[in-house]
Amino acid sequence: MSAARYDVASEPTAEVLAQNYKSLTDAIAQESAGRRVTLVAASKTKSPACLRTLYDLGHRDFGENYVQELTEKSQELPTDLVWHFIGHLQGNKVKELLEGAPNLCVVQTIDSSKLASKLNEGCAKYREGRPLTVYIQVNTSGEETKSGTEPGEPTVALAKYIAQECPLLQLKGLMTIGMPDYTSRPENFECLTKCREDVAAAVDVQPAQLELSMGMSGDFVNAIRMGSTTVRVGTYIFGTRYYPPK
Ligand SMILES: *Cc1c(COP(=O)(O)O)cnc(C)c1O
Ligand SMILES: *[C@@H]1O[C@H](CO)[C@@H](O)[C@H](O)[C@H]1NC(C)=O
Repeated sequence: MSAARYDVASEPTAEVLAQNYKSLTDAIAQESAGRRVTLVAASKTKSPACLRTLYDLGHRDFGENYVQELTEKSQELPTDLVWHFIGHLQGNKVKELLEGAPNLCVVQTIDSSKLASKLNEGCAKYREGRPLTVYIQVNTSGEETKSGTEPGEPTVALAKYIAQECPLLQLKGLMTIGMPDYTSRPENFECLTKCREDVAAAVDVQPAQLELSMGMSGDFVNAIRMGSTTVRVGTYIFGTRYYPPK
């Protein structure tokens, strides 16, 4: 498999990146008014050097969408980065992900009991039994599932499955993208908040113990106002994404 390629020329300079980052963290601090909100830098398509610049500004949480890209970057960058997997995860990529990124911290995109079970087994086989934090991805925009579980009973059932059958997975939150075009609406945020209440009751924790991962470049302000505890922001920090031709 060839290495991932990056369009380095299109990336922001260190100075611009620092300005974008400051403006974003200021906006997050203002909206969250003292409440803790984690910023996950959604860094897909950006070069390891570009991530390193943000790391040098003190940032640690990064989110990646592709297994190969995450594992390559994790091997090049310092080991204290906090990696979140935020893309669609296929069962047959679990081994590559867990072996290739021993310091992976969170998989935000669990959407089936089958995937949960594979990851749980994977922690035993490829992580020396070290547990992994997971969030359930909820499809808050449609009746049928594509990416994410349906809100309501299917989400609750998956949460119970993880709590009861997956001892190496620690269920710590819920995540949503919102609309299929990567925007979200207030209804999507409300829906995820309601799901959190249902899931918390089902697995016997307080809702506040579960993260609400919602909000991206275009809508993080509104998401924070509506209770988000984790925002995943890419374009605002790094500029437009370029996908170099293969
Ligand atoms: C790319 C991506 C983001 C970031 O989107 P921006 O609009 O660039 O901030 C957030 N969440 C997920 C799941 C993504 O794939
Ligand atoms: C959610 O489900 C709907 C209905 O099946 C689908 O059209 C939509 O693409 C899904 N949303 C996401 C983000 O995948």
